[in-house]
Amino acid sequence: MFKDLLSEIGKDHFRGRLNKYTRQAYQMLPRLKKPHILDIGCGSGVPTIELAKLSDGEIIGIDINQSLLDKLDRKIEEEGFSGRVKTRKCSLFEIDFPDESFDIIWAEGSIWVIGFEKALKEWRRLLKPNGFLVVHDEIKTVSNKLVKVPSCGYKLIHHFLLPEDAHWTEYYRPLEIRIKELHMKYKDNSEALRILQKHQNEIDMVKRNPKEHSSAFFIMQKS
Ligand SMILES: C[S@@+](CC[C@H](N)C(=O)[O-])C[C@H]1O[C@@H](n2cnc3c(N)ncnc32)[C@H](O)[C@@H]1O
Repeated sequence: MFKDLLSEIGKDHFRGRLNKYTRQAYQMLPRLKKPHILDIGCGSGVPTIELAKLSDGEIIGIDINQSLLDKLDRKIEEEGFSGRVKTRKCSLFEIDFPDESFDIIWAEGSIWVIGFEKALKEWRRLLKPNGFLVVHDEIKTVSNKLVKVPSCGYKLIHHFLLPEDAHWTEYYRPLEIRIKELHMKYKDNSEALRILQKHQNEIDMVKRNPKEHSSAFFIMQKS
């Protein structure tokens, strides 16, 4: 029941509406031939699959949640990317790839787990010389983050803010409409209603102040 309902909600479909910003950030990088990309905190891999489409590179997605990685593995297979996109269960606190393994590190929605400054310092060794770090993070304290970039050993190539209401209009609002439809469909199923309410609670938090949930991309280069 739980798995079927989650696929009926189809969060990844709505998450995909934000892929235009992933594309915008990727296009700010110079053209790289077959880049090795590490996607940190890839989850069910909406950006990971987008990166596979944008590049001809090899991508490793890491996450701590095996059920999200299983979902991503199914997408990799369906999309025909098995030859160059892999997943690995690994905490972002214990990344054990050798130094200078990657041309690009990509992290959307995951850097807060470790903290911006610590991540920049710890992930730097994983990048090849002149490699790129692309981070999608909450907008709060953007200026504090920008000053950390050079002191952590990077050059800021670009940064851009998503429209203030992007997460609301592109993701949460359409998701809320879907949740309401499913509420009607499952009105006599208390277990389904409980799960739907959990998702509605998350939406309500954003709905109270959508602008507080805006975010930014940072495109940095190892210096
Ligand atoms: C907001 S989601 C972002 C998922 C994906 N990057 C995206 O943008 O759709 C944050 C992800 O970080 C992962 N995560 C949280 N703590 C982690 C940890 N200690 N190590 C690795 N991944 C972690 C979660 O499992 C989740 O998939």
